[in-house]
Amino acid sequence: MLSGTASTHVVRLVRDAALAAGVPAPLLAELPGADDASLAEDRHRVPLATLVRIWDLLAHTLPPGVPGPGTPSAPSLDSRTRRTTGPGGTAAPSKKALAMTTTAQPTTTTREIRLAARPVGTPGPEHFTLATAELPPLAEGQVLVRNTWMSVDPYMRGRMDDAPSYIPPFELGAPPEGGAIGEVVASRSPDVQVGATVSHFLGWREHAVLDAAHATVVDTADVPATAYLGPLGTTGLTAYLALTEIAPVREGDTVYVSAAAGAVGSVAGQIARRLGAGRVIGSAGGPAKTALLLSEFGYDAAIDHRQGDLPGQLGKAAPEGLDVYLDSVGGDHLDAALEAMRPRGRVALVGAISGYNATAPVPGPDLYRAATKELTLRGMIVSHYLDRFPEFVGTAIPWILDGSLRTRETVYEGLEQAPEAFLGVLGGANTGKMLVRLG
Ligand SMILES: NC(=O)c1ccc[n+]([C@@H]2O[C@H](COP(=O)([O-])OP(=O)(O)OC[C@H]3O[C@@H](n4cnc5c(N)ncnc54)[C@H](OP(=O)(O)O)[C@@H]3O)[C@@H](O)[C@H]2O)c1
Repeated sequence: MLSGTASTHVVRLVRDAALAAGVPAPLLAELPGADDASLAEDRHRVPLATLVRIWDLLAHTLPPGVPGPGTPSAPSLDSRTRRTTGPGGTAAPSKKALAMTTTAQPTTTTREIRLAARPVGTPGPEHFTLATAELPPLAEGQVLVRNTWMSVDPYMRGRMDDAPSYIPPFELGAPPEGGAIGEVVASRSPDVQVGATVSHFLGWREHAVLDAAHATVVDTADVPATAYLGPLGTTGLTAYLALTEIAPVREGDTVYVSAAAGAVGSVAGQIARRLGAGRVIGSAGGPAKTALLLSEFGYDAAIDHRQGDLPGQLGKAAPEGLDVYLDSVGGDHLDAALEAMRPRGRVALVGAISGYNATAPVPGPDLYRAATKELTLRGMIVSHYLDRFPEFVGTAIPWILDGSLRTRETVYEGLEQAPEAFLGVLGGANTGKMLVRLG
């Protein structure tokens, strides 16, 4: 898949970023096949070295102080970049998309997982049930998608509760929502062709009927489809935003990331490094995961939270203290991090998984330390930043292509295993992104 060449699609992505950033025409002329007619043919692959050179050109044309690709302290493309790939963006023709539209539905039923009961405390398999449902006939503008992959995520635990939140609860007796990737097998939309690979939000089922406007065609020529549920999906975007905007990393910073071997954390350490962090520390559960933090995910030091004494371990790993903390765990992890923060440090409050199954409030940190150290603590919900996908995907695809962003997946097989995979992600059964292969 990472063949050392980049598809015309990626060249188009870089070209669009360059246009949006106002790169002078003479530089654009160095793009092979930069004229629209040639790109539209989608017929040639560009050597990776050429793409990197274009990327460098783009970085050097941005005015001083403006973040650009290739500058370690500033990773982003201009946010006006036209989105051609990834969730939430403009649908782009995929290489797999055939020039045909068919309304013939290959199936009129789907198997799906439904929420059977609302858990109190830790959920179990008994809170889910497998069922078969009738699919509605395709209405004008709709597509039928055969899901090939679905995502399970910790935030779904909150949606199992009937409680007010930033996102509505899952409905009892209905399939939960969630990120999914699939192949369009019937279409009544001129915008999304049969054969296209799309990302959408109707996971937990094998087939889904949805409005084409809610499906995003993704290009799988250079990256695997699953990347759009992981490093190029909302978890990758969360890591990127947390460290560029919510608690921005500055040159030489000491950065700490909890749940560092998971989907957000495994990407966050590498982004922190790229942003110029001087030292990057991660915590995870158990020796296998902590070893991976050091060998694969770019961390300088790893803390095993199962060994206890987080303040002591953090003090050893960061004797000079922390400048930035990306908090995915809350509770004891946030408490230890606040103790270790330097004055005026920054904390991105991304998640609090240690309390997701709790039936009573989890003891929280002493926030008075945030006052006395003049810390900035800022929360974020990634769904409020989906307009940043173009910038992020345009930035991260070259990292994946050049091998500098390494990711892992933990895969469960088949729809029947989806509840098990979800329970697993809450309990630490995953390394990198937890996924379910559906077909
Ligand atoms: N704010 C947002 O918009 C946003 C977006 C995406 C994700 N998030 C949050 O970010 C966090 C990570 O999400 P993710 O999708 O990347 O999941 P993940 O890290 O891939 O999986 C969750 C991991 O949390 C760890 N964990 C579970 N219970 C723990 C505990 N009591 N103490 C310490 N670690 C514990 C486990 O790893 P170990 O084996 O290492 O313990 C588990 O693998 C979650 O809190 C999630 O809700 C927030």
